[in-house]
Amino acid sequence: MAEQDPILEVRGLTKHFKSGNAMRVNIVKALEDVSFKLYPGKVVALVGESGSGKSTTARLIARLYDPTAGDILYDGKNVALAHSRKAMLDYRRHVQMIFQDPFGSLNPVHRVEYILKRPLLLHKKAKRGNIQEEVQLLLKRVSLTPAEEFAEKYPHQLSGGQRQRVAIARALAVEPKVILADEPVSMLDVSIRMGVLNLMAQLRDENNIAFLYVTHDLASARYFADETMVMYAGRVVESGPSEELIRSPQHPYTQLLLSAVPDPSRGLRTQEVEITGEVPSLGAVGQGCPFAPRCKHVMARCHEAMPPVTDLGGGRMTRCYLFEGGATGVNSAESAAAAAQVRA
Ligand SMILES: Nc1ncnc2c1ncn2[C@@H]1O[C@H](COP(=O)(O)OP(=O)(O)OP(=O)(O)O)[C@@H](O)[C@H]1O
Ligand SMILES: [Mg+2]
Repeated sequence: MAEQDPILEVRGLTKHFKSGNAMRVNIVKALEDVSFKLYPGKVVALVGESGSGKSTTARLIARLYDPTAGDILYDGKNVALAHSRKAMLDYRRHVQMIFQDPFGSLNPVHRVEYILKRPLLLHKKAKRGNIQEEVQLLLKRVSLTPAEEFAEKYPHQLSGGQRQRVAIARALAVEPKVILADEPVSMLDVSIRMGVLNLMAQLRDENNIAFLYVTHDLASARYFADETMVMYAGRVVESGPSEELIRSPQHPYTQLLLSAVPDPSRGLRTQEVEITGEVPSLGAVGQGCPFAPRCKHVMARCHEAMPPVTDLGGGRMTRCYLFEGGATGVNSAESAAAAAQVRA
């Protein structure tokens, strides 16, 4: 995977939202020190419970708001704080976002043709003369045929799946190198999710597009994503090739997430993971591991400082003291005993 250069890289991405007033300021630590790379023709999935910071990551990369800290490198150039109109137009030509709600993201007063014409003209991808042809080509690429008929429709005349296909066509209009897809199928009927996922997989392969795929659904991450990152309370706690990560989760939180997913190969028995409690309030997240209050392997130092990144080999990493010494060796007798229990 690392043979070619990444098209996009984030380093130490951090976002603290401030709210309240002069008397009392609340800080929500939505994202802390997140780093990863996206490669052409590859998909990275971001999974985690509600509020774990998945959309914040995608929105920061889309430059919908400024990061509190960290770098966003597109093709090697840092755009984390770029603001000029020219820089933003140039960046958005290459990095497009698809949202969860295709109805909310398509202007209801315009026909599909208008919705697709705009980016083509704004980014000078088509001349006025051949614009209709370009619109129809886009509709064919997302399998909305006969294209002439779909071009005439308004968003409310389309089904959810068709609307999401229009949103994908709109993103494709500028020939992007990166697509940030924030739960693109979670609002669609289960029966049509696969079709939209397969369309994105086809675009990834045919156009060498790098995808960041935000989802709650580990099964679809396994299906669509080469690599999966698991987020908890604004931190990436585990990442690695999707297949291996899902087959043998290491971090206690990943094990918890997977214990909730039925796996036919394991029969009706699910993994026995005994974890209680709730996701912490992000204003209250302190110095230690945010998962510590719910972790049955918790040790004293888990409350003191965030565990460092441990390279588990094979492209896998985790942030957990159980694995501090690496995949095969742990630092203390306490960690060794707990790690053995986790791996059992
Ligand atoms: N604009 C904002 N202002 C203040 N807080 C915000 C803002 N956007 C997000 N947050 C907070 O940041 C945290 C992470 O939110 P985010 O939307 O990234 O989570 P998520 O993983 O996408 O969740 P979901 O699965 O529900 O979409 C949440 O606690 C959320 O309330
Ligand atoms: Mg979200």
